[in-house]
Amino acid sequence: MKRRVLVASNRGPVSYEFGAGGTLTGRRGGGGLVSGVTSGLAAVTPEAQVRWVCAALSDADRAAAARLHAGTQELDGVPVRMLDIPRPTFERAYNSVANSILWFTHHMLFDTPNQPQFGREFRRDWAAYQAYNEAFAEALAGEATGNHEERELVPSAAIRVLVQDYHLALAPRLLRHRLAGEAGDAGIAHFWHTPWAPADYYRILPAEVSRALLDGLLGADHLGFHCDRWAHAFLDCCESLLSAQVTRGAREGAAGTLARVSYRGRVTGVGVHPLGVDAAALRARTLQADVQAHLSALRRTAAGKKLIVRVDRTELSKNIVRGLAAYRELLATRPQWRGRVLHVAFTYPSRSAVPEYRAYTEQVRRIAQEITEEFGTPEWDPLLLEVRDDYPRSLAACALADVLVVNPVRDGMNLVAQEGPVLSERGCALLLSREAGAAATLGAAALLVNPYDVSETAAALHRALAMPDAERRSRSAALAVIAAASPPSRWLGDQLAALGP
Ligand code: G6P
Repeated sequence: MKRRVLVASNRGPVSYEFGAGGTLTGRRGGGGLVSGVTSGLAAVTPEAQVRWVCAALSDADRAAAARLHAGTQELDGVPVRMLDIPRPTFERAYNSVANSILWFTHHMLFDTPNQPQFGREFRRDWAAYQAYNEAFAEALAGEATGNHEERELVPSAAIRVLVQDYHLALAPRLLRHRLAGEAGDAGIAHFWHTPWAPADYYRILPAEVSRALLDGLLGADHLGFHCDRWAHAFLDCCESLLSAQVTRGAREGAAGTLARVSYRGRVTGVGVHPLGVDAAALRARTLQADVQAHLSALRRTAAGKKLIVRVDRTELSKNIVRGLAAYRELLATRPQWRGRVLHVAFTYPSRSAVPEYRAYTEQVRRIAQEITEEFGTPEWDPLLLEVRDDYPRSLAACALADVLVVNPVRDGMNLVAQEGPVLSERGCALLLSREAGAAATLGAAALLVNPYDVSETAAALHRALAMPDAERRSRSAALAVIAAASPPSRWLGDQLAALGP
């Protein structure tokens, strides 16, 4: 039976920039979510009609969206429908609710004596988040039912909708309402890419908001999380805030369903689907000329030294400042490493519309400068910090790392922790936060740290640098095998399987 697979995410698989004279240039990709879904779709649904519904994020995206005609929605060969949501609605939904409140809640980032304050302004922002979700539900319903001709080709039982992430928590329930009757048996899944907060912290949200988010998600048939810990935290919230009936059990079948939630007359499956890497594609990417050029340059820069690498968005949850503080403590307390190591920190810009991110980026630059001033000599630069997006250079750094630092205060999964060992040429020691979702699978072969404990992290850096070559290689090989065991094709295939045959 022919399938129609609809993906919905805030950021889509293509984004636009204005060139000279107002021309539009499209760029593929951008971020772990998009690359995971893209490669998952390519692998598992060659026969299906695929359509990706996303938001126009910039003026150039809006201009591109305006060029689309109903029925022929493709942008640069990608079957995408880009929604031109009114700018104030989009900004409030994306920056003020999704990035400033939901992201902060689930990563537990609030400075609680001062933040958050839920007043009238927040209620206005929340209304925008609702409208934004309505816009997605409306577009998805249109894509699901299609025109009459298409509906005969694809019966509604063969329609699968894969909704992504915290931007779109309300969309499953809203879509369910719209499909009732005409396409009531379409399958809806939602995947949550970040952690889920413990119930006591989740209750920071206003009562009506915390309940609406849970209720929205429970409009889906299947909900996915990266690891058991986030899934169980979500289930705890369903029990304590909604009094939903939760049946936790052993994992059923290959699709990884670990619980069922009964609420408002419906049953929703909750599953764990870790998103790892497509190891063959990633290794093939490093053979391209741009990565090879960075490899040569970096080999020269790091010649004769042990290389400590981190690659992150400049993101509060990534804990870059404490990571650098740990490096400073290493150099201060274990002077034998001075002149013998180089720390490369590639932190690419992110969410600069949110004030906390701008301040954090400044903090990162400041501590980096302090380290250079304190320990640098005419012969030795201890640290190379670059706040710039350069994917090929990041791949090269991962390939050459002796030590890879991934120390987030909280992280849904973390792709770098998985990419590093897969790319590593000589084997790398992975220093990994116990608060990253990836710790659930990679923990045994990594050096786990408490991300708040700078001294413990400094000691782990020392241990990683001093690790015998054979141990480093065997740990790294074990990590690479685990990362490659959950490729995007499996991640996406298991979610589709959970929606039924
Ligand atoms: C990270 C998170 C995803 C999230 C994405 C959004 O990749 O892991 O959960 O959807 O950021 O990033 P953006 O740059 O689109 O705000």
